Amino acid sequence: MYKIYFFIISLLCLFSCQNDSTSSLLDSKTEDHINSLIDDMTIKEKVGQTCQITLDAILKKDTLGVLLEPHEIDQEKLNIALINYNVGSILNVSNHTFSLEKWQNIIDNVQSTASTTNHKIPIIYGVDAIHGATYIKSSTLFPQEIGLAATWDTSHARIMAEITAYETRASGVPWNFSPVLDLGRNPIWSRFFETLGEDVYLAKTMGKSIIKGYQGSANIDKYHVAACLKHFVGYSVPSSGRDRTPALIPNRSLEELHLPAFKEAIDAGALTVMINSGEVNGIPGHANKYLLTDILKDKWGFSGFTVSDWEDFINLHKMAQTDSTLKDAIATAINSGVDMSMVPNNPEYKSYCKLFIELVNEERISETRLDDAVRRILRVKNHLGLLNQTRIPVSNDYSDFGSEEHKKASYNAASESITLLKNKDLLPLSTENKILLIGPTANSLNCLNGAWTHTWQGVDENYNNDYPTIKDVIKDRFAKVNYFEGSKMIMKDGDEHDILSSDLQDAVKSAQFSDVAIVCLGELPSTERPGDILTLDLPQEQQLIVRELSKTGIPIILVLVEGRPKIIREIEPLSDAILQAYLPGDQGANAIADVLLGNVNPSGKLPYTYPRHNGVIMHYDHKKSELLNANTWKDSYYNPQWDFGFGLSYTTFEYSNMKLNSKSINSDNELLVSVDIRNTGNVIGKEVVQLYIRDHYATISPSLKKLKRYTKIELKPSESRTVNFTISSDDLKFYGIENNWIVEEGKFSVIINSLIQDFNFIK
Ligand code: BGC
Repeated sequence: MYKIYFFIISLLCLFSCQNDSTSSLLDSKTEDHINSLIDDMTIKEKVGQTCQITLDAILKKDTLGVLLEPHEIDQEKLNIALINYNVGSILNVSNHTFSLEKWQNIIDNVQSTASTTNHKIPIIYGVDAIHGATYIKSSTLFPQEIGLAATWDTSHARIMAEITAYETRASGVPWNFSPVLDLGRNPIWSRFFETLGEDVYLAKTMGKSIIKGYQGSANIDKYHVAACLKHFVGYSVPSSGRDRTPALIPNRSLEELHLPAFKEAIDAGALTVMINSGEVNGIPGHANKYLLTDILKDKWGFSGFTVSDWEDFINLHKMAQTDSTLKDAIATAINSGVDMSMVPNNPEYKSYCKLFIELVNEERISETRLDDAVRRILRVKNHLGLLNQTRIPVSNDYSDFGSEEHKKASYNAASESITLLKNKDLLPLSTENKILLIGPTANSLNCLNGAWTHTWQGVDENYNNDYPTIKDVIKDRFAKVNYFEGSKMIMKDGDEHDILSSDLQDAVKSAQFSDVAIVCLGELPSTERPGDILTLDLPQEQQLIVRELSKTGIPIILVLVEGRPKIIREIEPLSDAILQAYLPGDQGANAIADVLLGNVNPSGKLPYTYPRHNGVIMHYDHKKSELLNANTWKDSYYNPQWDFGFGLSYTTFEYSNMKLNSKSINSDNELLVSVDIRNTGNVIGKEVVQLYIRDHYATISPSLKKLKRYTKIELKPSESRTVNFTISSDDLKFYGIENNWIVEEGKFSVIINSLIQDFNFIK
C-alpha cells in the first residue's frame, strides 16, 4: 500500500513541487526505511509518535503540584511518557530559560530514555526560538520579526536565522517554532510584533530568507534546525483584535494576502507547519480540511508534518465547540490533516493517546491516515539526522555560541531596523550634549526584547539582565546625563497600567540645565492572550511626559520602543525628532545610541502603515473607494501618521531617470525597469529602493499600489547608482472572479519614490 502512496506522492511532486520543497524528503530509500519502520509499529506506538507533551509534564513537582527549582526531569514521568505512551515529541521550557549545559543534560536524558524504547526512535524537541535562542542563557537575541522586516534587507533575516539555528542546535534542540508568517494587518492584535509587517511581498521575501537560514541546504546539518511556519492560516486578523478569536477572511484575501508567504516558505523547503488556533469563517484552523489537506498537502506538495498549537485538539471541543466530545475533536483534527497534537499537559496526553487508539480501532480514523501522519513525522526526524542514531550525542562543537561575532550580527540588524520618522535638524547629537533622559522604556532590557525572552511573556528581569538598557548606554556615551523615570508601566489585572512617577516635576525643572530631552516611550512586553490590549493609544501618562517637557522649550527626541504603532498624534508636533526602535533585542540600546550620535545613519523603513487615529486602521495597499471623505469631498481618508515604507536618513537621496524598456508587455516577455538614485547629502547612507505597481482598472477593484520589488543600497555622498528591476506578468496577477489567478489587459503604472511611468499589459 505504501509503495502506491509513495508513487502517487512522487508523481504529484513532479508536477507541483519546486526544487527545495519538502519533496526533497522523498527519496525512495528513506521512504522504504520509514515505511518498514511503520510496518513494525503497533497502533499504540504510532499514536504515540503524534503526541507532543510539554517539558512541564515530565518535571519534578512537590505534593501540591508546584515545580521544584532547579527544574529536574522526573525520570519516572519521562519513562511513562516515552516507554508506556511512546510519546514522539516534547516542547518548551517551564517558566524560564536554562543554561546551555542544562539543556544539553535535559536533551541527553530525553534521548537516552527514547533509546530504550522498542524502536529507539528519538524525540523531536521543539522550542520557540523566535528572535534568537530565546530560552538559553547567554544566547544572542535579535530584533523581533517586526524590526527585522524594518531593515528591508533579507540578509539580516537570513543571518538572524542562521545564528538562531546554530545556538538552538547547540542545546540539542533541532526544531524551531518560527517564523511567524501571519501578516501584521491589525496592530491591536497582541502578536503584531511577531510578524514581518503588513505587506505580502515583504513577508514572502523575508520569510524565505529565514527558512534558508534556519534549515541551511536541503540536508539539515548539526548547525541547523527544522523551521515551523506559523500559524496556518489567517490567525493574525481576528475581527475583535483579540488573540485566538474568530476571523472573517474572504477567499480572495486568503489567496492574495495570507497564503502566499506560506506557499513561498513551503517551496523553500520548510519542514513543519503549526496550525492557526483561531477560526476563519467559522471553521477552526484545526478542522479545516480544505486548507490543511487540499491546499497545503495536496496542492502544494508539502510532505513534512503539521503540528497543532497549544491544546488545540482540546479547544475544538472546549472553545470552538465544533465537537461535542474530546474524542470527536481528535477525529476531526486528525482527519482534517493535523499530524501531531501539542496536547501538551499531563494527564491530558494520556487521554489523547487512549482516545486516538479507540478511534483507529473503531475505524473513525483510518490506519492509512495514522500512517500518513507518522510517516510525515518520521521523515522530518530522519531529515534532522535523528533516525539513524539510538542516542544523540550532545556536541561541544558550538564554540561560537553567544560569540562577539553573533552579537555584532544582532547589533547590525538592530541598527538597520531603527527608523527615523521625524528630524527637525536635531539629530545626530554630539557626545558633548547635555542629556535629559526620561521615560518608562529607558531603563528596561525587557522592553528592548519584548515577549519570548527567557520567559514566555518576557517580563521577568531575573532572567534578562545580561545586556545594557538605553539608560546604561546613554550614560556611558554622553558627557552629562540626568535620568528620570517619568512614568512606570505595571501589569495589573492582565492589562498594562501606567503610573506617573514622582520625579516628573524634577525632570521638568532640570530641563533648563539640559540641551535635549530623550524620551523613551512604548509598552510592556506581552504576547498571546495576556497581550490583548484595549486601545492603541499611547497611555496619557506617557504622553504627559512629553507635554510637560515641551512647555520648557527643550528640544525633544522620542524613542519608541514598541512592538506595534501606538497612537502619538497629539505629541508628535511637540517632538523635534522621532525614532522607531521596534523591539530591537539585546543590542538595541547600543544601536539606538549609535543612531542618535550619527555613528549609524538610520536606514530602517516602516514595515506597516503607522495609523494617526485609533479608529482608522488602513493599509498602504488600500483602494480608491476607501479615500473619499464625504464631509470634505476630498480624498483625505488615507492620512496615516506615516506611510508604509517611510523612513528618513541623515542624508538625502534623489531619484531620477526612471526607464521602462517597453511601453507594453505580454505573458512571454518581461518589463525591465531602471532608475538612478543619488546621495545628495553629506554622509554615506543606505536607501531602500521600493517598486510598486498600480493596476488602473480590473474586474476586481484594484489597490492603488502594491509592493513588487525592493532592494537596499549604500551610497557615498554624491555617488549615484542605477538600480534595475524585472517585472513579469505574474506580478500583475490577481485572484479573479472565477477564483483563479489572472492578469487582465490594460493600463498599469510603475511607481518608484515619486516617479511614475505607465505601461500596458497586452495578451
Ligand atoms: C503559541 C505558538 C507557540 C506554542 C508553543 C502557543 O501558545 O501560539 O506560537 O509556538 O505556544 O510554545
